[in-house]
Amino acid sequence: MDAAKAAAEINRLSREIESHNRLYYDEAEPEISDAEYDALYRSLEELEAAHPELASPNSPTRRVGGTVLDAFEQRAHEVPMLSIDDVFSEAELGDFFGRLSRSLGEEKIPVTIEPKIDGVAVALHYRDGDLEYAVTRGDGSTGDLITENVRTIDRVPLRLPDGQGLPSWIEVRGEIFMRDEPFSRMNADREAQGLAVFKNPRNATAGALKLLDSAEVSKRPLDFIAHGLGRYEGPPLESVKEFRDLLKALGIPQNLPVWEAETYDSCLEAVRELDKSRHSLGYATDGAVIKVNSFADQSRLGATSRAPRWAAAFKYPPEQKETLLRNISVQIGRTGVLTPVAELDPVLVSGTTVSRATLHNQDEIDRKDVRIGDTVLIEKAGEIIPRVVSIVASKRPAGAEPFNLVEAVGGKCPSCGAEIVRPEGFVAWKCLDLSCPAQAANLVRQFVSRKALDIDGVGTIVAEKLVEREVISGPLDLFELELDSLAQLNLGTDESPRLLGSKNAGKIVETVARARQFPLNRWIFGLGIPQVGESAAKELARLHKTLPDLANSAILAELRKLKTGDRKEDNAILAPYKI
Ligand code: IVH
Repeated sequence: MDAAKAAAEINRLSREIESHNRLYYDEAEPEISDAEYDALYRSLEELEAAHPELASPNSPTRRVGGTVLDAFEQRAHEVPMLSIDDVFSEAELGDFFGRLSRSLGEEKIPVTIEPKIDGVAVALHYRDGDLEYAVTRGDGSTGDLITENVRTIDRVPLRLPDGQGLPSWIEVRGEIFMRDEPFSRMNADREAQGLAVFKNPRNATAGALKLLDSAEVSKRPLDFIAHGLGRYEGPPLESVKEFRDLLKALGIPQNLPVWEAETYDSCLEAVRELDKSRHSLGYATDGAVIKVNSFADQSRLGATSRAPRWAAAFKYPPEQKETLLRNISVQIGRTGVLTPVAELDPVLVSGTTVSRATLHNQDEIDRKDVRIGDTVLIEKAGEIIPRVVSIVASKRPAGAEPFNLVEAVGGKCPSCGAEIVRPEGFVAWKCLDLSCPAQAANLVRQFVSRKALDIDGVGTIVAEKLVEREVISGPLDLFELELDSLAQLNLGTDESPRLLGSKNAGKIVETVARARQFPLNRWIFGLGIPQVGESAAKELARLHKTLPDLANSAILAELRKLKTGDRKEDNAILAPYKI
């Protein structure tokens, strides 16, 4: 077959296979048998093998992955990917509706109501129908370019069907997530193979998308549902409804069920109905998203720097479960704070198994009168972090004693043995020893976290062992790590050593090297300075050129003074970082 003919045939086969994919996934109505589908697929594979120069990265045969990247490129969002403002009660939903009415000068506001999917946000860019690239939300203005990984997701069309109405550019936004059943199956398989299991589908999704080897990603049961529009060049679109019609025509999976309403009452009714039906969707949802239907009205309402004014996320109150509090352990955080942690009989809450929950501090324990042996009520705040709501007084066993944190640790830091203190005006007990290994390890964990320098492979155990074995004494020492010695790091004990290995060590060294290019604000955030969150880090990065500038910064000292109300604040707090 000559090249021109082969190209035409490859194109025809690809389109036919994509169209069968759509029928299978979108309509659940396959028109051909699996064997016929396989035959088409094999013909395409053979042709591509004979004419490798003609194979497109968007060919359906590429879904198995195969590209291994060194690191993800960063890509700026042309339209920022904002967050959504939460509403936590029916009254707050009423306030939201009231604001819409007042701003638009109308009594009735057509809105849509749909599930809020608990996944990882992504933007898919299609140029002339071809998947051009895919980017994670990242910090809202820049994300990871994860095109290779996204191509492995069967439900993401690689090519949109030709025809009238095909936009020359469309950025479809949505969630990548895992359905409960394939998630559980994957975890069971992993357990059988002795691999670490994932805590919940969201973590598993985020973990899969961060893999640099797309062949590995293709084995994870990722799914995709669209819920929004970014950059768009195509036939005019006037509303959420019209956008949904376009998604349907293009075979892009959209977020269902969806309700339409015009008044607060009918909106509330939809929100209540969704709460009843959402548990049978087979994937995690944590709320209802309410959106103004008309795009013109959306523009009139505009957005704050954080979130659009035309949308709200109604958060459903979390599920609560009873379980037994077996013990209270004491953990030490990156600023030396001692935190009591409830050790629980494992219990399934909002889709994940909970066996630990923070009790925050002694005051909180006293206020709730939590005692070892109590039956406690657990919920997941924001459906993520488990917390003890209250004890069940009627189920308290005889002889349960009040818990005292200081007595429990004998007045000493459980990590380094230094005396613990309760600084004046603070609720928490602290270890003030700046060389305390637990603190150093926790500082390292903050430094490598996703929103900081996003360094792979330094989990709790690795961080602890790096510090314990004196390979590093603080986060900045990560930049001095050498591949060979790092590979020899013993994660086990002296009696039964377990080495980190060169593959894991390589990953760490590579992502550490990449981190050097990250902007100053990510470094500052990574230092985990008390009172310095993401936005303060951005401000500080604007006002300082380098980390050493920050170490001597009067602005930082001033900012922390303001936030803590403590006149004594100075930059001694930066000492453990050895900038
Ligand atoms: S619409 C900027 N619809 O929730 C507002 N977002 O908390 C437009 N999310 O980043 C977003 N389900 O990734 C929208 N049905 C849904 C959603 C949804 C989940 C995510 C989205 C967003 C985050 C904000």
